[in-house]
Amino acid sequence: MPDIVINITDLNKNLGGKQILNRLNLQVRKGETFVIIGRSGSGKSVTLKHIVGLMRPDSGGCFVFGTDMARATRRDAEAVRNRIGYLFQSGALLASMSVGENVSLPLREHESAKMDEDAINRTVREKLDLVDLDKVEEKMPGELSGGMRKRVGLARAIVRNPELVLYDEPTSGLDPIGTAAIDDLIISMKKKLKVTQVVVTHDMASARKIADRIGLLFDGRIYFTGTPQDLDETQDVVVHQFVHGEIAGPMTEKSGETKRFRKMADNPPSSQAGGGTRKGGAPEKPASAPAPQAGAGTEPAAAPSPASDGPGLPTPPPKAVDAKKQEERQKKEEEGEKKGQEPA
Ligand SMILES: Nc1ncnc2c1ncn2[C@@H]1O[C@H](COP(=O)(O)OP(=O)(O)OP(=O)(O)O)[C@@H](O)[C@H]1O
Ligand SMILES: [Mg+2]
Repeated sequence: MPDIVINITDLNKNLGGKQILNRLNLQVRKGETFVIIGRSGSGKSVTLKHIVGLMRPDSGGCFVFGTDMARATRRDAEAVRNRIGYLFQSGALLASMSVGENVSLPLREHESAKMDEDAINRTVREKLDLVDLDKVEEKMPGELSGGMRKRVGLARAIVRNPELVLYDEPTSGLDPIGTAAIDDLIISMKKKLKVTQVVVTHDMASARKIADRIGLLFDGRIYFTGTPQDLDETQDVVVHQFVHGEIAGPMTEKSGETKRFRKMADNPPSSQAGGGTRKGGAPEKPASAPAPQAGAGTEPAAAPSPASDGPGLPTPPPKAVDAKKQEERQKKEEEGEKKGQEPA
């Protein structure tokens, strides 16, 4: 069985009266790049904050390098954090410090006794170079573009050569070339330095390129885990809807968004009645939708793992596309719309 660096077990977290994480289970293996995808607000950043110990769960375990961050003393949690690099979604640079000072901060906080000023400056330059930033040490964060700030945050996250790096949307706000460069950096961190990495991203092209495995966060848990290929091949309706960016489907149905989105798409100011067709999106029914399989509609998290997820790491399987069910639901929605009913 592979070494497990992160082992989250039945983690629950309620925030603002809402169950954000609901018996979430996640295992990340040593040396792998695990990508977390999921809708905005699904709890991706909250999950990373648990891993780094910035948030503690209501219940459940969050083991990182064998230490349960949910119950660790401040000192033990700090010892684990020393082995982790964390790129915050916002970049989280200190506005009153120069870029050089920001990047060197983790070195000064933890290793000032061991590193002299020259070595610190050299390391800072080396990491800034890695993220393709030159001659910015003296600049203040406010003088940089959003994408540059993101890269400074990334340089800071890796400045101490951590064993585990958590990236919260490393490529958001970057142009396609900048995105490709960060993807390559993440790939080379894995290949050359054997770093274990967890990457939260909305960029499916990046996810496919960098991931060993991808986990889809849905309904407060890692709903699906598999290789990029598994993700593309699965017939699970939830995964399918997310990956193909479809408006109608189980992800948007519960919240009433399906109906709202379709209303927006079907009723642009100059449009005629759509008669049930969707505009500007994927077909309503996936072309590959098979007939319902036995077990379709059962609780996904309770089922065994897809074939690709190696031994000992149970994750939910793809749920079969229940095309008929979906068609019926859509019909109902259309009828409701015609009657002028409001979404539930
Ligand atoms: N400190 C907090 N207090 C209360 N609610 C919070 C807190 N942090 C996050 N939340 C809520 O938890 C939910 C998940 O937030 P999170 O930031 O993890 O989403 P996300 O999946 O990272 O979304 P995005 O893709 O937009 O970054 C959201 O509804 C958010 O409002
Ligand atoms: Mg987030």
